[in-house]
Amino acid sequence: MNTMTIQRFDLTPNSLGLPDEREIGALVASYFPEFYSAQSPAASKAYSPKVLPEGGARASDFHSLAPVAQQGGSGAQLPYVGTVSLEKIRADFPILSEKVNGKPLVWLDNGATTQRPRQVIDRLVYYYEHENSNVHRGAHTLAERSTDAFEDARGKIAGFLGAPSKDNIVFVRGTTEGINLVAHAYVKPLLKAGDEIIVTLLEHHANIVPWQIVAEETGAVLRVAPVDQTGQIIISEYAKLFNRNTRFVSMTHVSNVLGTVVPVREMTAIAHGFGARVMVDGAQSVSHMPVNVSALDADWFVFSGHKIFGPTGIGALYGKEDVLEAARPWQGGGNMIADVTFERTLYQKAPDKFEAGTANIADAVGLGAAIDYVSSVGMENIAAYERALVEYGMKELSTVPGLTLVGTAANKASVLSFVLDGHDNMEVGKYLDKAGIAVRAGHHCAQPILRHFGYEGAVRPSLAFYNTPAEIDLLVRTLRGL
Ligand code: ALA
Repeated sequence: MNTMTIQRFDLTPNSLGLPDEREIGALVASYFPEFYSAQSPAASKAYSPKVLPEGGARASDFHSLAPVAQQGGSGAQLPYVGTVSLEKIRADFPILSEKVNGKPLVWLDNGATTQRPRQVIDRLVYYYEHENSNVHRGAHTLAERSTDAFEDARGKIAGFLGAPSKDNIVFVRGTTEGINLVAHAYVKPLLKAGDEIIVTLLEHHANIVPWQIVAEETGAVLRVAPVDQTGQIIISEYAKLFNRNTRFVSMTHVSNVLGTVVPVREMTAIAHGFGARVMVDGAQSVSHMPVNVSALDADWFVFSGHKIFGPTGIGALYGKEDVLEAARPWQGGGNMIADVTFERTLYQKAPDKFEAGTANIADAVGLGAAIDYVSSVGMENIAAYERALVEYGMKELSTVPGLTLVGTAANKASVLSFVLDGHDNMEVGKYLDKAGIAVRAGHHCAQPILRHFGYEGAVRPSLAFYNTPAEIDLLVRTLRGL
């Protein structure tokens, strides 16, 4: 057995491939100078949740943000995310001007799906009006245009993820399909009875059920890394799960229920030390922080387009060259073949080997436009802004009588789950909807982690970079009225 000494499991932003607190601090201080300069001089240099005032900051601490959540919107002075004003960003998303139940929409259900900017919507329209054709087939001009647009999108995703080549990127329907592809085409052929697959207690059903299916079919065993009381993985316990039978690890990058940012780089290094390959589920991370698959050293990484301001029905699976080569074809059909006779078929190399049939071409192109959009704002800028917003949301929600936050890890992204004494989660969700506020209420497709904390469900506001502290204030005010 391949053994390794594991000396330290400290969790730092850098270990996640993120800027550290000082780097984030410089960015955050530049977004909210009034708020930070109201604190100690040190606080304006290094962002830390500790600089929030006793009892939590209010929207006025963020100076110019309040008018948006008071639902006028026009004339409100909003901060900048990087060099782009939040006012411009919000204007790019037509649906954010929608009214729901007579109230301006406050979209806090970004964990379920994000909204689309005009740039993505326009790109889809342009594709259908000027480029529509099947790809990789035909000698005509539109086939060339659509193939160029489709492959260009693949290249954008590779660049966005820090992948060595666009050939490392397979288009899939979304995260669920990507995990199923890896489970059946790569992991299942490796397994024999008694082999082990490790997941974590944080997984949503899409990263549990495919592994249960392949385990059932092969006699393999699923093992689960535990979490501490804040909802962070206990790395020393995770490390103890490895043995000579461990074949594969599949773990979320960010929990869709607790928002925990998992130290996937350390966990991947540990798995590699034991000779196991690793898949990272990026469904809840890619829209909130910079991701570099080469730095993480994950063997597989997957995300869904609709969670990063792109279309539904499209996602991307990254694989290292050797695992893509080793994996079996996933589905048979056109595009994935090099040559077919009735006696045998020769397959294309990756990524085509995994893309049988006509692809979801337009939505892949739309996903490329979404990547362009977030890249123009800058993922570091988005991460820094959202980090401040999450801290603000946690502080403010914790002032609501009877409210218990579910998930309090130090490294959190986007998610602000809670339960409210004496109120059913669905009742809270419907009450918020009357005020125009969209949240998810229920089990969030991740029953094991909620049950671990003693709940069958929770209310889940989840943030994106177009949300404002003033929207959080409206959420808190509305909850106080329940
Ligand atoms: N996994 C999605 C969510 O968390 C559907 O809402």
